[in-house]
Amino acid sequence: MNRVRNLCLYTAQVLAVLAAFHATAHANEALARKNACLGCHSVASKLVGPAYKDVAAKYAGQSDALEQVQTSIRMGSAGKWGEAPMPPHPQLSAADLKKLASWILGLK
Ligand code: HEC
Repeated sequence: MNRVRNLCLYTAQVLAVLAAFHATAHANEALARKNACLGCHSVASKLVGPAYKDVAAKYAGQSDALEQVQTSIRMGSAGKWGEAPMPPHPQLSAADLKKLASWILGLK
C-alpha cells in the first residue's frame, strides 16, 4: 500500500516539475512575441535573424555567452550572422533582457 502511495506522490512531483517547465517555456516565448523578436526570429529556422537554436549552438560552452548575447540584443548587432543587422532594443528591462537571453541560450 505504501509503495503505491509513494509511486503516486512521485508521479505527482514529476508532473508538477514538467508543468512548471512547460509554463516557463511559454512565458519566455510570449515575452519574445511581445517584444517583436519573433517578427525576425524563430526558434528553429532562420528568418531575418538567425534561428535561436543556432544562436544557442554557437555560444554553447562560452563562459561569457550570456553577457555577449544580452549586449547584442540591447545595443543591436551587425556582421556576426550575415548581411542583415539587428536594431537595438533599449526599451527592454534588465530582467526581461536576461530572461530572453537565458531562454535563447538554453534552447536545444
Ligand atoms: C528587425 C529584425 C530583428 C528583430 C526585431 C530582432 N532581431 Fe535579433 N537579430 C536580427 C538579425 C538580422 C541578427 C543577426 C545580426 C548579426 O549578424 O550580427 C540578430 C541576432 C540576434 C541574436 C544573436 C546575437 C549574437 O551576438 O550573436 C540574438 C540572441 C537575438 N538576435 C535576439 C533577439 C531578441 C531577444 C529580440 C527581441 C527583443 C530580437 N532579436 C529582435 C534581427 C532581429
